[in-house]
Amino acid sequence: MEKIQLLIPGSKIKARVRELGREISLDYQGLNPILVSILKGSFLFLADLTRAIHLPHQIDFISVSSYGSSTHSSGVVRLLQDLGTNIEGRDVLVVEDIVDTGLTWRYIRNNLLTRNPSSLRIVTLLDKRERRVVDVPVDYVGFVIPDRFVVGYGLDYQERYRNLPYIGALEDKREI
Ligand code: IMP
Ligand code: MG
Repeated sequence: MEKIQLLIPGSKIKARVRELGREISLDYQGLNPILVSILKGSFLFLADLTRAIHLPHQIDFISVSSYGSSTHSSGVVRLLQDLGTNIEGRDVLVVEDIVDTGLTWRYIRNNLLTRNPSSLRIVTLLDKRERRVVDVPVDYVGFVIPDRFVVGYGLDYQERYRNLPYIGALEDKREI
């Protein structure tokens, strides 16, 4: 078992998600956006965020996996499950757990842009900014975090810890 250090308590996540919901509700007034949750990591964030957005909106899911080790993104992304919705002319808000190198978001962004949405933005719970390797726009950020490998609130290490109600950092992460 890995040791996990508390980084962001559940109460702070809850408060921040409410703020993000308010901000998004203001920005999308009069629109009918579609939230596109990137599985699996963002499932809890999506569940809380959708309840904090007080305007009509839809949700859909896209599932991707990145090749490479479990703690480092290779930038090669595989689409496991596509959207069920045609997003042409729609206001699309992608919901991510974390933007790290930015490679996954760049891939998804380029993919979705070919479908001609009316607008395309991202809300990410976590932003590991100092690790960015590609310059890709990030619109809404819950928390900027340091370069640590984090788990909980949807994020996993080898499919574990997604159920933790807080964000924690793996203390003695072995890179594999
Ligand atoms: P990126 O392509 O490097 O931006 O990485 C994005 C994806 O890598 C995220 O959607 C996560 O699935 C995964 N990831 C990156 N950093 C972490 C972390 O600290 N904990 C868990 N997953 C992470
Ligand atoms: Mg993810």
